[in-house]
Amino acid sequence: MPTTAVVILAAGQGSRMRSSLPKVLHRLADKPLLRHVIDRARDLTPTKILVVYGHGGEQVRATIPDADLIWVEQTEQLGTGHAVQQVIPYLEGVDQVLVLYGDVPLVSSQTLRQLLQISTGQFGLLTVTLPDPTGYGRIERDDNGEVLRIIEQKDANPTQRAIQEINTGMMSLPARRLTSWLGQLSNDNAQKEYYLTDVLAMAVAEGMAVKVTQPAQAVEAEGVNNKMQLAALERAYQRMQADQLMADGLMLLDPARFDLRGTFTHGRDCVIDVNVIVEGRVQLGDNVHVGANTVLRDAKIADHVTILENCVIEGADIGADSRIGPFSRLRPDTQLTGAAHIGNFVEIKKSQVGQDSKINHLSYIGDSQIGAGVNVGAGTITCNYDGANKHQTVIQDNAFIGSNTALVAPVTIQQGATIGAGSVISRDAPAEQLTLTRAKQSSLQWQRPKKPA
Ligand code: UD1
Ligand code: CA
Repeated sequence: MPTTAVVILAAGQGSRMRSSLPKVLHRLADKPLLRHVIDRARDLTPTKILVVYGHGGEQVRATIPDADLIWVEQTEQLGTGHAVQQVIPYLEGVDQVLVLYGDVPLVSSQTLRQLLQISTGQFGLLTVTLPDPTGYGRIERDDNGEVLRIIEQKDANPTQRAIQEINTGMMSLPARRLTSWLGQLSNDNAQKEYYLTDVLAMAVAEGMAVKVTQPAQAVEAEGVNNKMQLAALERAYQRMQADQLMADGLMLLDPARFDLRGTFTHGRDCVIDVNVIVEGRVQLGDNVHVGANTVLRDAKIADHVTILENCVIEGADIGADSRIGPFSRLRPDTQLTGAAHIGNFVEIKKSQVGQDSKINHLSYIGDSQIGAGVNVGAGTITCNYDGANKHQTVIQDNAFIGSNTALVAPVTIQQGATIGAGSVISRDAPAEQLTLTRAKQSSLQWQRPKKPA
C-alpha cells in the first residue's frame, strides 16, 4: 500500500464572501466547509492530513480542534503552488499527495478513491466538462487526446478559453517528483502567482503519464466563493441527502422542503411533511409521522409517535404511541415514557412524564417528575424557580391537576390526588383527596357604574 498524504488548501481569504468569518468556516448543513473536506479525506484513511491555513488561522484551528491534523501556515498567499510548497517538510516517507480544496465541500470519497486508484506513482487529475467554463483553468490536450497542460483563465487565449474541460483543482501527485517540480515554479503569469497547475506540464515533459478521471456529479467540483454559491451547494447537498433517505424508505412529502443538518436514522414507514428541519442527532422508530414546520434537534422518537404541526423538539426522548402538538415545545432532558399526549402551547423542560399522561393545553412543566395516568389541566404552571434555585415538582400516578393551577416547587402531589382548578399549591397534596386553595364564591348586590347617557 502506497502511503498517501492529503493536503487541504485553506489559506485563501474568501473576500467575496463579504464576511469576517474565514471562508472555510462558513457552514453547509451546519458544518464548516473545511470539516466536510476533512471528513472526505478521512474516508480515505490517509497516512496524514495536512491543512494549509492562512487567513483567520487561529479561528480556523479553534473551530476544527482535531488532534491528528497537521496545520501548516502559509503566511502570504502567493498561489496554490506556493501553498503546496509549505508542506514539503512533512512529506518524508509519503508516496502520493492528494490535493483538495477547503472550499470545495461536496466531493465524494468515491471520486477521490477513484482518482487515487488510477494515479498511483503517477499524475492524477480530476476534471469536469462544463457548459460555461468561465473562471476555471482549462485542460489542454494534444491531437491524441493526451493532457498537455492547464491554462488559467487569465492566461488563456480565445481558443483555449473555448475549451470546456476544466481543472477541478483536485489532483494526485507523486511525492518523489513534487519537491523538484515545485522548486521550478515561477510566477511569470497574469496573476503573478505560483500556480500548482504548472507542475502538470513538468510531469508531461518528463514523460510521466497523466491519468484523468471525472466525478460522478459535476457539483462535486463546485467551489464556494460567494454566498450565492454557498446557498446553491446547500440546496444540492440537501437534495442528495433527501434522495438517499427516500431510497432508504423515508417518505418526504416534499424533498425540496426538508433540511437535515446532522445525522438522522429512521425506521420503516415514517412520513415527514413539508418544512421540517432535523439537526444534531435524531432517531425515529417505525411509523413516526412528523407534521409540517417542525424542528427536531437531538431527539429520540419511538415507534408510532405522531408529531403534529409546528413543534420544536430538542433534547427529548419520546416514548412509543405518543402524540405531540400542534405547537408543542419539548426542551432538553424531557422524557416521555409512552402514549403521552402533549398539546398546544405546552412547554416541557428537564422532566419525566409517565405512561398515558396528558398535558394538553397551555402549560409549563419544568424540573418535574410526573407519573403514569396523570391529567394536567389547561394552564398548569410548575413554579420551579425562586429567583436563584430550581426546585422539583413531583406528581404521582393518576393525579388530576385542575386548570389554572400553580404548583410552587418543591412540592409533591400524591397518588390519585385531585387539585381543584385555580389553586396555588405550595404544600404537598395528600393521596386520593381533593385539595384546593380558593376563596369561597360569594354573590353580592352590585350595580355596575353606568356611562352618562
Ligand atoms: C484554481 C486553479 C484552477 C482551477 C480552480 C478550481 C490554480 C493556479 N488554479 O484556481 O485551475 O480551475 O482552482 O476551483 O491552482 N489557496 C491557498 N493559498 C494560496 C492560494 C490559494 O491556500 O496562496 C487555496 C484557496 O484557499 C482555495 C484554493 O487554494 O481553497 C484555490 O485557490 P483559488 O485562488 O480559489 O484558485 P482559483 O483561481 O480558483
Ligand atoms: Ca476558486
